[in-house]
Amino acid sequence: MTADLHCLLDEATIGDRVASLAATIDRDYAATDLMVLVGVLKGSFIFLADLARRLTVPHRVDFIAVSSYGDRESEDASGAVRLLMDVRHDLGGADVLIVEDIIDTGHTVTYLRELLLARHPASLKVCTLLHKPARTEADVPIDYLGFTIPDVWVVGYGLDFAERYRTLPYIAELPPDQR
Ligand code: PRP
Repeated sequence: MTADLHCLLDEATIGDRVASLAATIDRDYAATDLMVLVGVLKGSFIFLADLARRLTVPHRVDFIAVSSYGDRESEDASGAVRLLMDVRHDLGGADVLIVEDIIDTGHTVTYLRELLLARHPASLKVCTLLHKPARTEADVPIDYLGFTIPDVWVVGYGLDFAERYRTLPYIAELPPDQR
């Protein structure tokens, strides 16, 4: 049931942006000894897969999973974030790039930065496909940004609503009457 969803970012637009982000990251990390992409599950899995395959700089791929109290965009979200699954690599001395699908309030990435900085990486940066500044409460440094989006619920390209729509190849707006 996706025919009536309003497409916000189509496949070609996303693909072009991912390629351009990868080119920038390739340049910035050309001298790295050890780069680790840390994908934040679950939403980032498709973006991470596309971004990683575009990179030519050597890198490892790892994953981390967190959960926030209250779902993305729920009114009662407290901002508290809990670690569900840790990375497998030792990040000490590595150039770490957190790869997110979306930054909403910023609580998740704020938590992750603190957590991963304590592992003493050589560097730590943030790459997110989407940013919704209207909802961002924390002061989040975003080093690589795909698109700034308005305050609407988005699904597809990894993003879900109640676990649906993650594998849509494009990003669509889910209207309030379909939530
Ligand atoms: C989404 C997204 C980010 C987080 C951003 O995850 O993948 O990790 O919310 O929100 P914030 O900036 O308000 O902290 P979600 O909780 O929907 O889980 P999922 O990725 O498993 O779908």
